[in-house]
Amino acid sequence: MKRIEQPVMLVVFGASGDLAHRKLIPALYHLAYQNLLPPNFTLLGFARTKYSDEEFREMARAGVEEYGVNGVDDHIWHWFSQGLFYQSGNYDDLDSFKKLAARVAKLEKQRPTNGSQLYYLATPPSVFEPITSLIYEVGLCRDDMEGQLRVIIEKPFGHDLESARALNQHLLKLFREDQIYRIDHYLGKETVQNILVFRFGNGIFEPVWNRTYIDHVQITVAEALGIEDRGGYYDKSGAIRDMVQNHMMQLLALTAMEPPFAFEAEAVRDQKVNVLRAIRPIDPARVDEWVVRAQYGSGVSNGKVIPGYTQEKGVPANSTTDSYIALKLDIDNWRWKGVPFYLRTGKAMPAKLTEINIVFRRPPLMLFETVDGDKVPPSNILTLRIQPDEGIRLSFDAKRPGPNVVIERVAMDFSYREQFGSQPAADAYERLLLDAILGDTTLFIRRDEVELAWDRITRILEGWQMQEDALKAQGKTAKLPTYPAGTWGPKEADELLAKDHRYWRNPASVRVSR
Ligand code: BG6
Repeated sequence: MKRIEQPVMLVVFGASGDLAHRKLIPALYHLAYQNLLPPNFTLLGFARTKYSDEEFREMARAGVEEYGVNGVDDHIWHWFSQGLFYQSGNYDDLDSFKKLAARVAKLEKQRPTNGSQLYYLATPPSVFEPITSLIYEVGLCRDDMEGQLRVIIEKPFGHDLESARALNQHLLKLFREDQIYRIDHYLGKETVQNILVFRFGNGIFEPVWNRTYIDHVQITVAEALGIEDRGGYYDKSGAIRDMVQNHMMQLLALTAMEPPFAFEAEAVRDQKVNVLRAIRPIDPARVDEWVVRAQYGSGVSNGKVIPGYTQEKGVPANSTTDSYIALKLDIDNWRWKGVPFYLRTGKAMPAKLTEINIVFRRPPLMLFETVDGDKVPPSNILTLRIQPDEGIRLSFDAKRPGPNVVIERVAMDFSYREQFGSQPAADAYERLLLDAILGDTTLFIRRDEVELAWDRITRILEGWQMQEDALKAQGKTAKLPTYPAGTWGPKEADELLAKDHRYWRNPASVRVSR
């Protein structure tokens, strides 16, 4: 890929924060390192903390040194850091934004971009509305820019359907839809993009990618760490908002969508929307039949001692927030009718691991098994390993050499590392920032997509609220099932699949510490 010729100015709100420090600036530096940034690339950081340009550059360099993929090259750093500037101010203060507008105008003279500006909201969601209103008010988003002016919105995009709709309505008063880039960093992961290449770039998988051949699909996004010091944020969101509404719904959409007519933004997003629309809405009154929520108890995960969820800093002792969720979704369309999608995610599980298991049906007649064919678990499983140990594995039965017919489960395995070397894959943010600079919205979430995902999730939240209200009326409080930290989840999650005569595929390579 060649350097972009059109200069741009990226204004990052929340530039002194964690996301900018750990992810955005190292990703931008790595783009510079690969010669992918436009000439005269300008980054103007904005946040409450007071820094001079020089202090901001030092902080940026420290971030690249600590979190970047291959250290700092002085020559490239010199070029990159010349384009870094900083302006402090308050997110809801008109005066601060007037100063920001003056700074943008000044930089525009020194380093002209012809109005090509990106505003990145790397802030808590509570200030999304004031920031966007104020940049509008001070004239930073003139609408004669023809798509040159864009706004990138970090997650979480709303906390339920109503708030997501309200945020969309607000943004659409100020910007056109094609100027709004809603981020889900999972879409920037190489292996997530590869789901589409695997499915639609090959001829042999798509014909079997349907209810005739597939028994069910499992999507696991496990994390070994607990919530650490994020209690304040996490307890208000839980696994369902933090992971399911966004990242997992995207993984599901890419796995289940119909082929787009072209690999371009609207075609891809139309198909994702179609499949999200086909997800059968869960009846809130029957939420327990489809969804299991739980909290981790104390334990050891990956060698680290973790306190129970309700003992974590920032979490009330009577919290009913889910640190784990398992759910079953049905997709009511021609391709998937009768093929359940089981999703699970949690903190304090045995490993950090994301994978999608496509479990194929058993052969109609079990020629080589002595037990009743229906009791033999399916042997053909296609595992898309999203992270770590990125790759794809297809398991099948083979005859072990010898005079008797002894069957053994074997696998064909593709590993990114073996195939493409140990070169670290670009961070998800690198790809997404580059696409936003280029004006490509394919890997960003469209308005209808975010609202549909919230619609399906909000029904679950309503179901839980109904349960808690009913208990409250009886003077009782809800208590969630627990699972010891470092395990795959509560027994209720196993039961969710067991009642369908299925079980979770836990990778054998991961040791569970109890
Ligand atoms: C974030 C969540 O969106 O994704 C975090 O807020 C989570 O809680 C993280 O840890 C996981 O992302 P990744 O890329 O590390 O799998």
